[in-house]
Amino acid sequence: MTTTTADHTGSTEHSSDSTEHGGMLIPEHRDLHFLPPRERIEDWHKLGPHMTQFMNTLSIFFPPGERLFIDAVRAFRDEIPDPDLRKAASAFISQEAMHSREHAEYNRLMDEAGLPAGRLERLVAKNLEWFKKHGSRKDLLAETIALEHFTALMGGFMLDHPEIIEGSQEDYRRMWEWHAMEEVEHKAVCFDVWEKCVGRGPRAYLHRSVGMLRATALFWTNVTRFYLQMTAASDACRREGWRGHLTVLNTLLGRPGLLRRQVPAWLEFFQYSFHPWQQDNSHHIRKLEELAEEAEAAYRQAQAADATHH
Ligand SMILES: [Fe+2]
Ligand SMILES: [Fe+2]
Repeated sequence: MTTTTADHTGSTEHSSDSTEHGGMLIPEHRDLHFLPPRERIEDWHKLGPHMTQFMNTLSIFFPPGERLFIDAVRAFRDEIPDPDLRKAASAFISQEAMHSREHAEYNRLMDEAGLPAGRLERLVAKNLEWFKKHGSRKDLLAETIALEHFTALMGGFMLDHPEIIEGSQEDYRRMWEWHAMEEVEHKAVCFDVWEKCVGRGPRAYLHRSVGMLRATALFWTNVTRFYLQMTAASDACRREGWRGHLTVLNTLLGRPGLLRRQVPAWLEFFQYSFHPWQQDNSHHIRKLEELAEEAEAAYRQAQAADATHH
């Protein structure tokens, strides 16, 4: 099926899977499974064990983080006035639930390898529980749109620069690409919920801007702390030596500059009239169907191999 997506910028893109209603892109629920090989958990990235641990560290945040996003959107779902946006919100929830399920499996592999992923994930969950208890539902949604902006930027950048992950172990690569593409696909849903349910005025703007500053400070401080703990616990990193950190720093801040080159797009969030689709990268969504087919075939194969093994 081919549908047309007219976004807020008025530009027109074609996507092969998501459906479009009156200019709104409604994400699609895909129940995909990934079985990344456990023996590669400490060294699946083509740039080596330290880069592997950087990506693994990001994965630690997903199950508890995505639970927060789901709760934040659910808290407003009944008040969403627009039926298409309500549909998009439900699709967002199911996509995040799938990401969370697959990353929980992935994170278990880290634990089995003796990495402190479980302990760190519980720490994130505890902090977010505290936030859920003490923050208002607007606070939760403000954090959600800030972190959704991050995931869409990271995912979008990874897809714009496939050399970042191409050449890595295939199942891990596919899982990260799937997640990146769906993050692009649903990047505007929470923001639209925010605008419809909280508003577009100066108060809403201030609230989401403060939310972004808080999310940025907390998220990157914790990513750095956790990354250092993960690399310290990894035998593969120990064997690679301290130069592995330079590889990660170069990827983030040098070339291709996974973080450095995102700064302008990150700053756009502070524009008064910002909307996620003003950064139009919807062409990435077109590759989702092909990737889903590949993932399903790989999963069936891995299951068959598992069955003959036992
Ligand atoms: Fe996600
Ligand atoms: Fe997301």
